[in-house]
Amino acid sequence: MKKHIVLLPGDGIGKEVIESAKDVLNAIAEEFNHSFSFETHEIGGAAIDLYGTPLPESTVDACKHADAVLLGAVGGPKWDQNPSHLRPERGLLGIRKALDLYANLRPIKGFKNLLHASPLKEEVISGSDLLIVRELTGGLYFGTPSERRDNGQSVVDTLAYTRCEIERIVDKAFEAAQSRRGRLTSVDKANVLESSKLWREIVEEKKAKYPDVAVEHVLVDAAAMKLITNPTHFDVIVTENMFGDILSDEASVLTGSLGLLPSASLNESGVGLYEPVHGSAPDIAGKGVANPVAMILSAALMLRYSFGLNDEAKMIEDAAQGALDAGFHTADLRVENGRQVGTTEMTKLIVDFIKTQTASKCIASCYF
Ligand code: IPM
Ligand code: MN
Repeated sequence: MKKHIVLLPGDGIGKEVIESAKDVLNAIAEEFNHSFSFETHEIGGAAIDLYGTPLPESTVDACKHADAVLLGAVGGPKWDQNPSHLRPERGLLGIRKALDLYANLRPIKGFKNLLHASPLKEEVISGSDLLIVRELTGGLYFGTPSERRDNGQSVVDTLAYTRCEIERIVDKAFEAAQSRRGRLTSVDKANVLESSKLWREIVEEKKAKYPDVAVEHVLVDAAAMKLITNPTHFDVIVTENMFGDILSDEASVLTGSLGLLPSASLNESGVGLYEPVHGSAPDIAGKGVANPVAMILSAALMLRYSFGLNDEAKMIEDAAQGALDAGFHTADLRVENGRQVGTTEMTKLIVDFIKTQTASKCIASCYF
């Protein structure tokens, strides 16, 4: 298979971990006879420094012509005081909108030998495996431009959704639930917000189309609580942009390993942008200690969702699990009797794991 991938390293540790994803994809290409080509572009703070904008046209164009996009992370203290149109985050929001990446999938599953690092008791977190389906191109993030009035003393942000925007994300979530354990939790604030009332109506209407999925509605405040008290309750959660942003950060730390969580942002045509859930971590940037696993697992999601390469995706996931099971870990994880390694060593371990796995598969198929 021949695919062209755009790399957007962005800022901070994004630049380091994107190299790891590339190394792993090159190893997969070699082992499975694929041809992956790469093209790197700027986004976020790096683009502001070079071009005076967080999202240059050339970046958008390249992404539109790519088979898939891998993004590291954006942001950092250097740009914190910039006016809002010149903040790195604008680049991320802009590319999501430009590619119409309305469906953000954030799978959250603990790695078994790392559960002791969770802030929750092991018996509470053990067995949790959920998928947050976050609407990504509507709601408060993209309402009529926020404004300040009365000499800056009053402000307006708008939470707008159309029926069509809600329907497509709800369909995506029902489909995801069908391919998992058949449970869907729709999270809203229908006791207060009009947008949530329409959201709830649409979920109710869609139920008939997916009779094999059990649906419940949970208010966002209660959902936040339940994620802490009973995370195993959840299978698929679907929610609007801002609620999804908040709940996915909350859920991601439950496993004790934010540095291990990937995400996929998809549009109707299957072109996707894949990025780790963690940010640019400016405090550790450039030190070679960042955990590359979330970025590498994001590349695995790319192979699965955009290219349909399920075996290759699984190979990467098994390799990451294998390196962790063998006790190797980066500085962000505490592992009893483990061996701490840096970004490039962790990457190499995963690459080696892929190579030995394919070698042993080949030996098995030759001899048995
Ligand atoms: C995320 C991030 C972004 C968001 C920021 C960086 C704009 O927090 O991907 O969750 O809020 O969507
Ligand atoms: Mn977030």
